[in-house]
Amino acid sequence: MVPYQIIQHKRNGAELKTAELSAFFNGYSADEVPDYEMSALLMAIYFQGLSHDELWTLTDIMLRSGKRLEFADIAGRKVDKHSTGGVGDKISIILAPLVSSLGVTVPMISGRGLGHTGGTLDKLETIPGLRTDLTLDQFRAQVRKIGCAMIGQTAEIAPLDKRLYALRDVTATVESIPLIASSIMSKKIAEGIDALVLDIKRGSGAFLPDLERALELAQTMIAIGQFYNLEVVALLTAMDRPLGFAVGNALEMEESILVLRGEGPSDIRELTIVEAAEMLRLGGVAASVGEGRKLAGKALDDGSALEQMRRIIEAQSGNPAVLDDPALLPQASVQRVLHAPSNGYIQEVNALKVGQAAVRLGAGRGTLDARVDPGVGYHITAKPGQRIEKDEPLASVYASSADGAAHALAELFDAITIADEPPPRPLPLVSHRVTSAGVEEL
Ligand code: URA
Repeated sequence: MVPYQIIQHKRNGAELKTAELSAFFNGYSADEVPDYEMSALLMAIYFQGLSHDELWTLTDIMLRSGKRLEFADIAGRKVDKHSTGGVGDKISIILAPLVSSLGVTVPMISGRGLGHTGGTLDKLETIPGLRTDLTLDQFRAQVRKIGCAMIGQTAEIAPLDKRLYALRDVTATVESIPLIASSIMSKKIAEGIDALVLDIKRGSGAFLPDLERALELAQTMIAIGQFYNLEVVALLTAMDRPLGFAVGNALEMEESILVLRGEGPSDIRELTIVEAAEMLRLGGVAASVGEGRKLAGKALDDGSALEQMRRIIEAQSGNPAVLDDPALLPQASVQRVLHAPSNGYIQEVNALKVGQAAVRLGAGRGTLDARVDPGVGYHITAKPGQRIEKDEPLASVYASSADGAAHALAELFDAITIADEPPPRPLPLVSHRVTSAGVEEL
């Protein structure tokens, strides 16, 4: 194999042979292909895309770079959910205990923050003592015992994807449909699940803002799923504004606890119920999505989802008292309030700008090995379309220094626009449902 020629072929739009892709990617796994050559190939794929055959091959190489779990000894279908990444998106934290409290097995392997988007693991780890680095044996044992575990991608699950994901993050090659689809699906197939709900974000804060590209991503992942006998339902959801009020790890954990208690912001509750309903139907616990909705709403209101969260936290060595007293979560030392500079209507709360500002505040990572500051972030109550009066509070900033708070306040001011006229309608929270049978507009 001559890496230079493979990069050149792809750059010129040729289809790579299975042997070429295997040699290049397995060579990278074995440290025989350096980062700079892999970066060049990823950029060529970013511009030229992948054919169906190339996409299957790449997904398979990533899947086979690690272990493939199986839970055949557990009765019933195993179901997971994955989001393509958003700002304020804490749905997985609520969904896993909710759906597993109703009898569907949820073996969940999640990621950390990527770019301007937050990650489930960073949020979960704000619970004092909670471990997400279980071994695969511990993961399997917990799933068998209580029906759910929430961990990070171990070295054994699609390790090649883990390396490529980190490289893509720093080489501007994240926003590629075949790269996103093969990355997500290789990890999900490795989990040993039977069905998957995908939350595909669109709008300014999504990796693929356009509707057409989001639909193409959904269809690509559904097609990969079919190849591996994994049933996939994809929902296209709004990321033109942050989800809920909280952006930042401990703040989002606190908001998740509120929703698990039957409270919390209505958009978070609604999206959780919509996704739970799909998972419950796929898991065979609900005969229809409508029945799934009812079951999910009840489990949030009667405390069953919260009790399952308590079991998960205890099993993963965390302090379950946070569920009764969220003040036990890490707290930022400085808080400032942003007031409306004028009367008017909230035109936009730009999710991308909020996400980027949160990363700079310390809620995300500027470099791969940077530590997140768990207590910092934003609590933004202003929503597009809302009428506001001058000096009304729009949001709060939580920071670890006065300087950080002042800077974060200025960035937030820039992300929120106010005008005299109401804005055009924001994107519907859930706009499309995509399955192997086709696209349904909701
Ligand atoms: N999430 C993933 O797991 N992979 C990507 O490439 C993008 C989002």
